[in-house]
Amino acid sequence: MKKNTNKLEYSGKSELFRPSDRKRNRAAKIILLGSLSMLLLMIFFLTFGIINISDSITKHIDNPSAESSNVSSSLNTALPTTSATFAPFVFPMPTLKIPLPYVALTFDDGPYAPTTAKILDSLEKRNINATFFVIGYRAEINKKLLQRMVEQGHEIGNHSWDHPDYTTLSKTEIKQQQEQCAAIVEQYTGKKVRISRPPYGGNNTMVDKTCNTPIVLWSMDSLDWKETDRQTLIKRVVSKTKPGDIILMHDLQKITAECIDEILDGLLAKGYIPVTVSDLIATNHGTTLQHEKLYYDVNNIISYK
Ligand code: NI
Repeated sequence: MKKNTNKLEYSGKSELFRPSDRKRNRAAKIILLGSLSMLLLMIFFLTFGIINISDSITKHIDNPSAESSNVSSSLNTALPTTSATFAPFVFPMPTLKIPLPYVALTFDDGPYAPTTAKILDSLEKRNINATFFVIGYRAEINKKLLQRMVEQGHEIGNHSWDHPDYTTLSKTEIKQQQEQCAAIVEQYTGKKVRISRPPYGGNNTMVDKTCNTPIVLWSMDSLDWKETDRQTLIKRVVSKTKPGDIILMHDLQKITAECIDEILDGLLAKGYIPVTVSDLIATNHGTTLQHEKLYYDVNNIISYK
């Protein structure tokens, strides 16, 4: 009989209420709750992480004129100031280590009438801002182009008066080169030059200190000055550029002016957002370029103090 009673007790509910199953059920509940809370946490982090990143990207795409309309902020800190306006719901979150798709375009040795205007047209058409490291005497000859650079929101850097190798000059000579170039830029644009790139990238601690501004070199060399094949140049820049790169080109090179549309479109198609050097650093680090520092790319920053 006992056996039968037992059979009756468990009949019908036998699969659900056996003691061993209750334990299993409890374990399943714990696992379910655990997974749910993990899922919620992941959604929380992902949502705010993505908002954070996409916000800064869309901000740039939607409002590239934010910098153009305010040249002084473009020369200094365009992005951190605007981010407060555009991201009211972003609150401090641990930074996700996802490389931002910004790259800095830099053009050296101009302004040069036959080629710089074409490059400015191409940048303007796409609402892209770049950094131009100008040579003082060329800026004086082509002041309209220099002024157009600033009007379009580009950043101007000091590339000496007439392109000597600073490592062969005395302190006084370097100072003279720097001051003469800076004076022309200020005279024609009303803007102070805040960054320098010594000609040929020729630098040492003495040169860097004497320039008395942050020094900007590069991490991606287009080699446009010695390239003769357009497709090779386009392919080199588009395929070798990495997030955070500072790209070296020359606006006085004919081939660069001829290829610039395809280079820009190639970079954009790969998801890159070309910006000025200052914006590249501001976007990634939230700071302006610092004195006594040398910048190769967004992460390769050397202190020469
Ligand atoms: Ni140069």
